[in-house]
Amino acid sequence: MKESGNPLFDFILFGGSGDLALRKLLPALYHVYRSNPFQPGTRVVCVGRSLTRRDVFLERVEAKLQQYLPVESWDEVSWQQFSKHLHYVSIDAHKSESYRALREHLSSDQRPRVFYFSTHSSLYGQIASSLGSHDFITPSSRVVLEKPIGRNLASAQTISGQMSNYFTESQIYRIDHYLGKETVQNLLVLRFANPLFESLWNHHYIDHIQISVSESIGVESRGEFYEETGALRDIVQNHLLQMLCIVAMEPPSNLDPDRIRDEKLKVLRSLRPLQDGNINHQVVRGQYTAGIVDGKECLGYCEEEGVSDSSNVETFVALKVLIDNMRWSGVPFYLRTGKRLPRRSCEIVVQFKEIPHWIFATAKGQMMNNQLVITLQPNESITLKLCGKRLGPGMDVRTIDLNLSPSVRGNKRSPEAYERLLLDVVNGDQTLFLRQDELEEAWSWVDPILQHWESTSAPPEYYAAGTWGPAGATLLLAQDGSVWYEGVK
Ligand SMILES: NC(=O)c1ccc[n+]([C@@H]2O[C@H](COP(=O)([O-])OP(=O)(O)OC[C@H]3O[C@@H](n4cnc5c(N)ncnc54)[C@H](OP(=O)(O)O)[C@@H]3O)[C@@H](O)[C@H]2O)c1
Repeated sequence: MKESGNPLFDFILFGGSGDLALRKLLPALYHVYRSNPFQPGTRVVCVGRSLTRRDVFLERVEAKLQQYLPVESWDEVSWQQFSKHLHYVSIDAHKSESYRALREHLSSDQRPRVFYFSTHSSLYGQIASSLGSHDFITPSSRVVLEKPIGRNLASAQTISGQMSNYFTESQIYRIDHYLGKETVQNLLVLRFANPLFESLWNHHYIDHIQISVSESIGVESRGEFYEETGALRDIVQNHLLQMLCIVAMEPPSNLDPDRIRDEKLKVLRSLRPLQDGNINHQVVRGQYTAGIVDGKECLGYCEEEGVSDSSNVETFVALKVLIDNMRWSGVPFYLRTGKRLPRRSCEIVVQFKEIPHWIFATAKGQMMNNQLVITLQPNESITLKLCGKRLGPGMDVRTIDLNLSPSVRGNKRSPEAYERLLLDVVNGDQTLFLRQDELEEAWSWVDPILQHWESTSAPPEYYAAGTWGPAGATLLLAQDGSVWYEGVK
């Protein structure tokens, strides 16, 4: 076996039997292991509430890995080796005495302990306090908090207070896995290593920017979770605002984690507040009804398991966001997310302004203005759409695509976002994680929208499953003379 480049660590995964752990976190750890086997003695301790024997738990993990890993990533030998590092402990977060069971699974040396909280965020305070009272938190411990952290600003601040009783800010990793995507990091390189882009990256040349996260699935088995959460808390408050920050921030003076986070924070502080007066004009709240996605009939949201039949919870949000600073004055950022849309995708589209004077025979209206399309899902890519000459006589113009995606050599797999981020935690690198002030600033911008919706009895706008959301979302852009990017069909 090759020597491990990974340091020794203990990884304690609360919520280790949950959906996220089995679908994303354990597959990511398996990939980390395959690229660089753990040092002997490294422990991954999965913590669940249910009483389960280790061998039964391992069978479940094995089945899930086979289900969720790309076929070429699975191999029996790696699994056998990896599984030797896996342990299972049953703890009820509310029962302090049940944490004692963890002691025998923690090493007594100085290695980093990563406590990963992948449970409902209402349990975070209780778990931290019990870890503290059992003296499990060492100076080299780190804690990772899954999103959404809290339900609003007040609950996020409560959680921050609870965490700060046991961990310093440099030990807290607030994860947003979109920031772990190669393409998001490449966007920083594209912007800040290329004067070509940086000189155009402002209100003089950019007409508007769209950021969309669309899912074709509904709430699946997570109806109860979604009833308490909704699309604004689940996607807008974290993923969409974080991507907006990366697109809109000023160049940091260097790549120090705090320099990057300072710049993201400035963007959040420059967002024009949405309040009662403009929410109805700038925010569209939608909910899916029955329809057809991928040729299959689907239930409406209110007919899903765990959902109230009179629920007003939003499964779709579209927003027009303005940033009050020199660079972005007057440039709308349109954010959109929804469930049961026609396809799963995540795109950032930078729409450049049109050329002031057109001299070619091809009708200008037929041509697309320059666009930079950054795709994060289902496959990561960056494409610049330009005008080029059509081959042959005359001066006909056509749209050409310039592929700016990082080249992948051979059949090398691009690492999943969680792999990169889990390694960053183990190595103590906070660059791609949120700081407390960023989290709170994002909540304080989102809170008035939540309060506005809570104060109104108006239902969301309905859209049939399999469509691109309610009519209001189309109008939001149409009134500014724009349309949503719908990608390659
Ligand atoms: N699932 C996703 O796609 C996704 C994506 C991004 C973020 N997240 C976030 O990740 C976290 C976990 O989500 P999930 O979907 O994995 O939830 P989940 O499937 O409902 O799993 C919850 C986990 O918490 C454990 N748990 C519940 N109550 C507990 C208690 N009192 N004491 C100890 N453990 C307890 C459960 O253990 P038992 O199963 O043994 O009861 C289970 O392991 C949430 O914060 C969610 O917002 C999820």
